[in-house]
Amino acid sequence: MKSFFRLIVPFLLSKASAIPYNEYILAPRTRTLYPVSVHSSNGSVSNPESLTSPSGSTVFEGDAATAYDFGKNIAGVVSLEIGSISGEVGEIGVTFSESSLWVSNQSSDATADSGYDETLWFKITAPGRYTAPRERERGGFRYMTLVHNATGSVEVTSAQVHFTAMPHWEDDSLANYTGYFHSNDELLNRIWYAGAYTNQLCTIDPKYGNALVHLFGEPTWPPDARNVTWYSNYTIAGGSSALVDGAKRDKIVWAGDMAIAVPAVVTSTNDIISIENSLNSLFDSQNASTGQLPWGGKPFPSILSFTYHLYTLIGVADHYLYTGNLDYASSKWEQWKLALRFSMSFIDETDLMNVTSSPDWLRSGMGGHNIEANSILYFTINQGIALAEALNDTAPIPSWKLAAEKVKTAANKLLWNDTLGMYTDNETTTLTPQDGNSWAVVANLTANATQTSSISSKLTSRWTPYGAPAPEAADAISPFISGFELQAHFLTGDTRAGLELMRLQWGFMMDDPRMTNSTFIEGYSTSGALHYAPYPNDARISHAHGWAAGPTSSLTFYVAGIQLLSAGGKTWRIAPSLGDLEFVEAGFSTTVGSFAAKVEMEEGGGWSLEFETPVGTVGEVVLPVTASAGSIVMRDVGGVEEDVEIKVAGADDGPAVVADVSGGKWMATFKCG
Ligand SMILES: *[C@@H]1O[C@H](CO)[C@@H](O)[C@H](O)[C@H]1NC(C)=O
Ligand SMILES: *[C@@H]1O[C@H](CO)[C@@H](O)[C@H](O)[C@H]1NC(C)=O
Ligand SMILES: *[C@@H]1O[C@H](CO)[C@@H](O)[C@H](O)[C@H]1NC(C)=O
Ligand SMILES: *[C@@H]1O[C@H](CO)[C@@H](O)[C@H](O)[C@H]1NC(C)=O
Ligand SMILES: *[C@@H]1O[C@H](CO)[C@@H](O)[C@H](O)[C@H]1NC(C)=O
Ligand SMILES: *[C@@H]1O[C@H](CO)[C@@H](O)[C@H](O)[C@H]1NC(C)=O
Ligand SMILES: *[C@@H]1O[C@H](CO)[C@@H](O)[C@H](O)[C@H]1NC(C)=O
Ligand SMILES: *[C@@H]1O[C@H](CO)[C@@H](O)[C@H](O)[C@H]1NC(C)=O
Ligand SMILES: *[C@@H]1O[C@H](CO)[C@@H](O)[C@H](O)[C@H]1NC(C)=O
Ligand SMILES: *[C@@H]1O[C@H](CO)[C@@H](O)[C@H](O)[C@H]1NC(C)=O
Ligand SMILES: *[C@@H]1O[C@H](CO)[C@@H](O)[C@H](O)[C@H]1NC(C)=O
Ligand SMILES: *[C@@H]1O[C@H](CO)[C@@H](O)[C@H](O)[C@H]1NC(C)=O
Repeated sequence: MKSFFRLIVPFLLSKASAIPYNEYILAPRTRTLYPVSVHSSNGSVSNPESLTSPSGSTVFEGDAATAYDFGKNIAGVVSLEIGSISGEVGEIGVTFSESSLWVSNQSSDATADSGYDETLWFKITAPGRYTAPRERERGGFRYMTLVHNATGSVEVTSAQVHFTAMPHWEDDSLANYTGYFHSNDELLNRIWYAGAYTNQLCTIDPKYGNALVHLFGEPTWPPDARNVTWYSNYTIAGGSSALVDGAKRDKIVWAGDMAIAVPAVVTSTNDIISIENSLNSLFDSQNASTGQLPWGGKPFPSILSFTYHLYTLIGVADHYLYTGNLDYASSKWEQWKLALRFSMSFIDETDLMNVTSSPDWLRSGMGGHNIEANSILYFTINQGIALAEALNDTAPIPSWKLAAEKVKTAANKLLWNDTLGMYTDNETTTLTPQDGNSWAVVANLTANATQTSSISSKLTSRWTPYGAPAPEAADAISPFISGFELQAHFLTGDTRAGLELMRLQWGFMMDDPRMTNSTFIEGYSTSGALHYAPYPNDARISHAHGWAAGPTSSLTFYVAGIQLLSAGGKTWRIAPSLGDLEFVEAGFSTTVGSFAAKVEMEEGGGWSLEFETPVGTVGEVVLPVTASAGSIVMRDVGGVEEDVEIKVAGADDGPAVVADVSGGKWMATFKCG
């Protein structure tokens, strides 16, 4: 039986030369990009379509403009080739917009709190090539408008963009992903790849950060100003690449955003160096005496955020989890402990941390014994315990364990409201926040399973047609906090809710014509309006924000079910959960090796699971729940380990779990009866 089986198992998981499903990868295959279509034209423009190829001929005469569409959000420096000119020519202007809403012949979309960004003008004196200075790279745009406003005419023979994101990768390797995802749901497939690409656009040369030239000390612009200056040339971090919050803005490092962006990076491109450069920049700004870490990276001024301070510490623990590189964790360890002591110094007689500084992800009402901040504290202390164990620095562990237990007990006593079936924001309000309730589940702050399923179902009951609202931020849908809500549904075991929220909220972000069909937006209104409550200026919203990439890692970790438990995957769990899907396949690599899983549900209730983990590692397998009674057989495709046979009674029994499974290629099948 065993040898027969080995003969018929195809090596579906063996390394193929091509990157699986690379047709979904949105990253360009070359850095030189041309528009793919004409969006609209005004005035006298001859043959505007010609500029969708490398060598064209488009003549602009008098007041005229053409808006071009790159088909997806991109980033880069524009160059124009000018052919013949006649009469008074003057200047050719270029404007940029991520959303179709702000396509204009007068200005770009916005990077400041008011007004619109100025047109980039090229003074045309003779035929030839005109390239924007590097600080005028635009970090995110799908639309680019060429504007001519002189009395003469000018022939443009080429309008190209040099793609500047992922600066440290070879020009022809921007699509060389280490991870992949596929399922029978085409929308989910597109969402996974858009999350991965969003993070690539948010990976920049750190010498060209911070487009927020007007954030501090600059006069306020009239709301209708179309001349707001912009440029990006502040060095935000060391090294040659950095992971930042957004492609257009802020182009600076934010640790909170990284909590969602980093796992999406790991499961798609495994671009660890950009994560390290960003984390390093935050630790470089630590206050050496208090241990306080910055809310945002340079050039943001030093402001205390209780949550983002902790997110920087989570960044180090995540780095170790996803790489197994203990040297990096060790190099940050003294700073890490100092920073945790700083947070714990705000724990008061209630055993909860009293938040005395409001900055967070731009929600309101952040203060006092806040449930989100305390959940994150509980989570971070537990990550600290795991790091301390790995580093053999056991001295702080007993006091950390005690403090964590007390936070959990106090939060459940003071902030859980059984009538509401959720945690309140703090003990003086009945507002039940999306962030704190999602984070309580993610952090395992909950005391029992009744709480987690109550939170999952209450969160679900609040969805609008556009996604999951965050009542703690007025009229906002936050793709960032909804990324934690996704995790909460999956951790509760409600895979269907997680998938439904992805289709509802990320499906909207994918398919709405005001969006880029390629990257995920920073935030919007519960009504679907592209207005994000914290900003007065709708044109300022970033349409490529890595904090919105939650589905990418969640689909890999919780649906395909490939979970790293320690040290880059030295221990792991395979726990697929398909919800209403019929087929799912995913894989990714760490320095420890390659991880892959593929599940197919069969007619009649049977299923098959194939998975691969690196040889020398060990893990547990949580097999898909079966609808009816039958038997599961799990075989080592390499033929080394004994077969595992399990009789199962059906759904009420929950999943069958096999512990101490050696790394390698395995196949499990379930047959009813
Ligand atoms: C053309 O003009 C209309 C009306 O002023 C304007 O809304 C649109 O943005 C313009 N498009 C281009 C490409 O100039
Ligand atoms: C074209 O626009 C530029 C920049 O605003 C301006 O300097 C120039 O005077 C304009 N030319 C005409 C003819 O309007
Ligand atoms: C990236 O992938 C392309 C196409 O598969 C391949 O030709 C190229 O060699 C790869 N680049 C690197 C740096 O691996
Ligand atoms: C920018 O535009 C505003 C409003 O349109 C105007 O008040 C201001 O003078 C302009 N500034 C410059 C430098 O052109
Ligand atoms: C950034 O670019 C602006 C506009 O070109 C320039 O005025 C400024 O000096 C530059 N700053 C740095 C640090 O290079
Ligand atoms: C408690 O939460 C409510 C709702 O978010 C908020 O309005 C209030 O300011 C919070 N209390 C403190 C002390 O921050
Ligand atoms: C938190 O600390 C602030 C500042 O010390 C204090 O005013 C406030 O009463 C404290 N809040 C709670 C809930 O203890
Ligand atoms: C921690 O201790 C264990 C067991 O003594 C040892 O194998 C490991 O190398 C130590 N790790 C570090 C980082 O010192
Ligand atoms: C779960 O824990 C909460 C908070 O401690 C408590 O109020 C509730 O009664 C518990 N529910 C069950 C079913 O144990
Ligand atoms: C729980 O919430 C209900 C409904 O808003 C409220 O009436 C009640 O006072 C809350 N309970 C506690 C202990 O705060
Ligand atoms: C959650 O916390 C409880 C203790 O409160 C612990 O028994 C349980 O193992 C934790 N679950 C996970 C997944 O860590
Ligand atoms: C969105 O992009 C996908 C490819 O990723 C394409 O198939 C689809 O046609 C695009 N949708 C629109 C409305 O452009």
